[in-house]
Amino acid sequence: MLSQKTIDIVKSTAPILETHGVAITTYFYKTMFEAHPELLNIFNHANQSQGRQQTALANTVYAAAKHIDQLEVLLPAVKQIAHKHRSLAIKPEHYPIVGEYLLKAIKGVLGDGATDEVIAAWGEAYGVIAQVFIDVEKEMYDAAEQQPNGWKDFKEFYIDKKVEESSVITSFYLKAKDGSPAPAYLPGQYITIRTAIPGEEFLVNRQYSLSQAPGSNAFRISVKKEADHDPKGKVSNFLHDGLNEGDTIEVSAPAGDFYLEKGSRPVALIGGGVGVTPMMAMLGTIAAEEPSRKTVFIQAARNKEAHAFGSEAASLVSQLTDGKVFTAYEEKKNDSDVCDVTGYISKDFLNEVIDSNSICYVCGPVPFMRAVVQHLTALGFDAQDVKYEFFGPAMALQA
Ligand code: HEM
Repeated sequence: MLSQKTIDIVKSTAPILETHGVAITTYFYKTMFEAHPELLNIFNHANQSQGRQQTALANTVYAAAKHIDQLEVLLPAVKQIAHKHRSLAIKPEHYPIVGEYLLKAIKGVLGDGATDEVIAAWGEAYGVIAQVFIDVEKEMYDAAEQQPNGWKDFKEFYIDKKVEESSVITSFYLKAKDGSPAPAYLPGQYITIRTAIPGEEFLVNRQYSLSQAPGSNAFRISVKKEADHDPKGKVSNFLHDGLNEGDTIEVSAPAGDFYLEKGSRPVALIGGGVGVTPMMAMLGTIAAEEPSRKTVFIQAARNKEAHAFGSEAASLVSQLTDGKVFTAYEEKKNDSDVCDVTGYISKDFLNEVIDSNSICYVCGPVPFMRAVVQHLTALGFDAQDVKYEFFGPAMALQA
């Protein structure tokens, strides 16, 4: 229990830390990784080099500090982060390390502005915030381990099959090396892949949405190849070019709070680029479990060559009593390329094809999601009926 004095100090200094947010967390990561280079086996180096993780962690700590006397307000945000932490095998013993270097960074950046009293108050507050995460994550670890064929941290899988889905997207079918079937998951959830890349000092981790309905004995992820030297594409490109059928990778149990909810209301699944992957798991689940649910599947791709899953989506939609599929190509390379929208998806188009009573699921690159979410909001959809998944730290859409 924090004293009123501690709460007052933390709340009154939070805006100052906010002003120095990025400086503090940049300092924090630098010194923490110098002292604990082993943590580079967990953190995403591309997020680090782009400053994205810095902003995400800073924003969350300040948001938590502002609500330090009513942390339950933050629980939905904590859960989303905790899913990510759980999928990366973040453990209670990691929290004091982060706490130590965060306090040192506050002191280092603010200098005399951070008195011993202020540092002590933030130390206490961090302890309370960290405990909320640790408790939520413990429940998630227990649930992952206790479910049939579940496990706690990482488990060895092998690539059973690689299937090219388009000029840029390839699917990987992953089977557990111990022969056990893939556990159940919610359509829309992701797994973390951990692997070593030859020549790299540290392990790399990346999250990929599962791209088919649960119930098969394998996980399927579908990965986009990025430009050769794009740091964001390091792991995806290694999967494409460096790993083959039979190779081993480590996989964490499915995680994430973006998933299709069962129900009778119509559904709109809207995927852009490789963001179509969780939509495929959702569509497959509707076809298998709720085939009479009214469903609209909208897929945006750069062009016909980059359009993955065209025939699979059409086949799944054909199993529905009231399903429709629409395709948008940013550009048409040939006149013979058939699509419903050329260019970007507009508000009018969404208005025309989506039932106003729908629950909408959106996934894709940030500009795509921002545009689609804005259109849906302008059309009067309630925020709670527009669900979206981020690639990368969750703050990106608000930036
Ligand atoms: C991701 C906050 C503790 C490692 C994140 C994200 C936030 C966050 C906001 C982005 C979530 C997303 O991508 O959706 C926090 C807060 C913490 C905390 C407020 C303390 C109270 C830790 C600890 C570790 C850790 C103790 C491990 C040493 C990571 C990693 C990611 C992540 C590896 C994934 C993103 C990346 O690799 O750059 N955390 N975190 N976090 N966190 Fe934490």
